[in-house]
Amino acid sequence: MQLYNIKDHSEQVSYSQAVKQGLGREQGLFFPEELKELDNVEALLDLPFVERSAKILRHVIGDEIANLEDLVAKAFAFGAPLKAVGDTSYALELFHGPTLAFKDFGGRFMAQCLGAISDGKKITILTATSGDTGAAVAHAFYKLPNIDVVILYPKGKISNLQEKLFCTLGDNIRTVAIHAAFDDCQALVKNAFDDEELKKAIGLNSANSINISRLLAQVCYYFEAVAQLPKDKRNSVVVSVPSGNFGDITAGLIAKALGLKIKKFVVATNDNDTVPRYLATGKWDPHATVATLSNAMDVSKPNNWPRVEELFKVKGWDLKDLAAGKLSDEQTEAAMREVYANTGYVCEPHGAIAWKVLQNNLEEGDTGIFLCTAAPAKFKENVDRILGIDLPLPQALASRANLKVLSDEMDADFAELRKYLLNK
Ligand SMILES: Cc1ncc(COP(=O)(O)O)c(C=O)c1O
Repeated sequence: MQLYNIKDHSEQVSYSQAVKQGLGREQGLFFPEELKELDNVEALLDLPFVERSAKILRHVIGDEIANLEDLVAKAFAFGAPLKAVGDTSYALELFHGPTLAFKDFGGRFMAQCLGAISDGKKITILTATSGDTGAAVAHAFYKLPNIDVVILYPKGKISNLQEKLFCTLGDNIRTVAIHAAFDDCQALVKNAFDDEELKKAIGLNSANSINISRLLAQVCYYFEAVAQLPKDKRNSVVVSVPSGNFGDITAGLIAKALGLKIKKFVVATNDNDTVPRYLATGKWDPHATVATLSNAMDVSKPNNWPRVEELFKVKGWDLKDLAAGKLSDEQTEAAMREVYANTGYVCEPHGAIAWKVLQNNLEEGDTGIFLCTAAPAKFKENVDRILGIDLPLPQALASRANLKVLSDEMDADFAELRKYLLNK
């Protein structure tokens, strides 16, 4: 597989290089040189999830990675069930992995790929988290040979359960509570990537969401969603994606480019609605980011948007065909109550936004699918308050709740972090 840098087409890399490197020159995103349609998608849809996913990824990635099928089996060790919610809609539940969010698919596949292409050389994954990415990355890379993981997070600014989920693992996962805000953690990571000597010395790599391996893994669950639909409901499918950095919807659009029959995609956001406004007015006008109930989508300059535009350009699609909608917090709470009252289905805020925006975009005869990106229990406090229920804590959270936090602590001081990384 060849990829080019969207900002500088002369920078061409292999899949392995794109996975190792993450971003191209001038922070440009890598984009596939070719996205050929799959042969006989209908037959593919009859295969089990892991076997089908391996075929899709082999088709896109090519022969670069010898044991791709094994890697996919290890990465996708849990399913993505599709549940009927009302008469015309289905929830695609992407939260049955170890950290109860869709990030487990991409994080685990990326970890497997990096392990396979590392040539036995030591890699250090350094990442900053405001809560959820850290957990997915930590669990995905846990105990993988030749890979050290260092995760920075703002001390006291993530929930107790979030901290327990990834700071109690030990082994090759080191977590550092920084005495500062999330932005300072992110700045420390950027400093590390600007330090060529450090980069070489510890084989520095990042696991953030712009990595192409994470996106390609996510493509597979769109096929899985359609595969679980009754055959007579596959002709007019509308998919609603709760969007922040726009990685997930990019993956869906790539699935369509590969031949998956989707009538329409719908972008669903909270008040951070740069893209819905852009699609309505043609003006790119990001506002200051505001905090919302669906905090993982509090992004006003979505990293992956250039990939969406590139895909529409190379496929000759019209952006007018991309539907969009947004919900305020008040509307999100109302949507959570509405779907619960009408169908008994419990949605956390991100999924509820996708559900409501989907309802607003369904036409007669359509089948709707909305992505549920996180388990409701991850947002237990708000879900319990809004719906007046008491959600049980899933095993993945309950089993770590009483373990000791193993984190180191540090000021937001790059010299200190550098020493910490080199001394390992
Ligand atoms: C629970 C949840 N839903 C939705 C999103 C948005 O996904 P994307 O950033 O790929 O648009 C995220 C991203 O962090 C998330 O954690």
